[in-house]
Amino acid sequence: MIVLGIESSCDETAAAVIEDNRVRADIISSQIDVHKVYGGVVPELASRNHIVNIAPVIETALSEAQVTLKDLDGIVATSGPGLLGSLVIGLQAAKTIAYTTGLPFVGVNHLRGHLLAARIQDEDGTPVPEFPYMALLASGGHTGVYHVKNWNDIECLGETRDDAAGEAFDKVAKLLGLGYPGGPIIDRMAAIPGDEVSFPQALRQKKSYEFSFSGVKTAVAQHVGHLEGKPTEDQMHAIVRGFQKSVVEILVRKVVLAARQKQVSRVVLAGGVAANSGLRNHAMEICGQNDLQLFAPPRKRCTDNASMIAYAGLLSLSAGERSGFDISPKANWPL
Ligand code: KG4
Ligand code: ZN
Repeated sequence: MIVLGIESSCDETAAAVIEDNRVRADIISSQIDVHKVYGGVVPELASRNHIVNIAPVIETALSEAQVTLKDLDGIVATSGPGLLGSLVIGLQAAKTIAYTTGLPFVGVNHLRGHLLAARIQDEDGTPVPEFPYMALLASGGHTGVYHVKNWNDIECLGETRDDAAGEAFDKVAKLLGLGYPGGPIIDRMAAIPGDEVSFPQALRQKKSYEFSFSGVKTAVAQHVGHLEGKPTEDQMHAIVRGFQKSVVEILVRKVVLAARQKQVSRVVLAGGVAANSGLRNHAMEICGQNDLQLFAPPRKRCTDNASMIAYAGLLSLSAGERSGFDISPKANWPL
């Protein structure tokens, strides 16, 4: 089965062509340069850029995959959660193609896409996780632990009570004046070895799968406020290392706790923060100590992409699911 998937839930305009569980083309037009001057995503600008980019991105995906619309078996688009003005553009593009071609069409939950991304088979033959697995989803908008029993049977065990992990990375980078998006910048800085400031890990002792990241953000702001003058480069690195450590340790602790308690032997990392080297290394170490098998998809499949949407949609379409042309985008859509 060959499907075209379209993703436009935030600031990336993306289209991919998937054949079964292999990627034939995966195109992303990033808007980072547009939004970085504002220190975050400006929804109105995101929508305007999606409008400009959507058709060329789809065309490039089809031509790179060496297919035409006639070769497709279905069309998929993210229909939520995300920015409404962004979602509507990818969704409408997909509906239009489906309407004019008569191809089957389905709207997909963005979180489901992230949670299934690790199952996409790469050229290099890296093994993909079988079901069931315990997934940590940590992105800019969501953070939670999910028991993925099957592609269509996913249970959320706990989520963040306030900020998402990626949001914490972005906000801390902003308050330290490091730039946007904060995750990759902090990741690079924290990889340089050295001292670290110790920051709190909220809900560490609680045997729940909930997170809270607003406290560590405040702790970083207070630490900077107590310094005499602006932080030196060494101080800045020590803050960044300590902040990343606090977030990474709690993320890994909770997903490992869930895997052990539910007796699931596989752990999967998902979402933009799963691209973080510190998280990937720490997860590898702790999963190893607990006899858990870790699956960390390639970084490009952790951050927003259309392959994961195409893949999740392909599974729905093969099970006979269809969306009507009357579906509308959903800003909030829990799994
Ligand atoms: O999954 P994603 O691309 O979009 C959402 O669905 O939100 O996640 C974006 C988030 C941003 O907050 C970004 O700073 C963070 O993922 N991120 C990272 C890294 N790369 C992206 N956080 C930590 N380390 C990274 N290397
Ligand atoms: Zn995402």
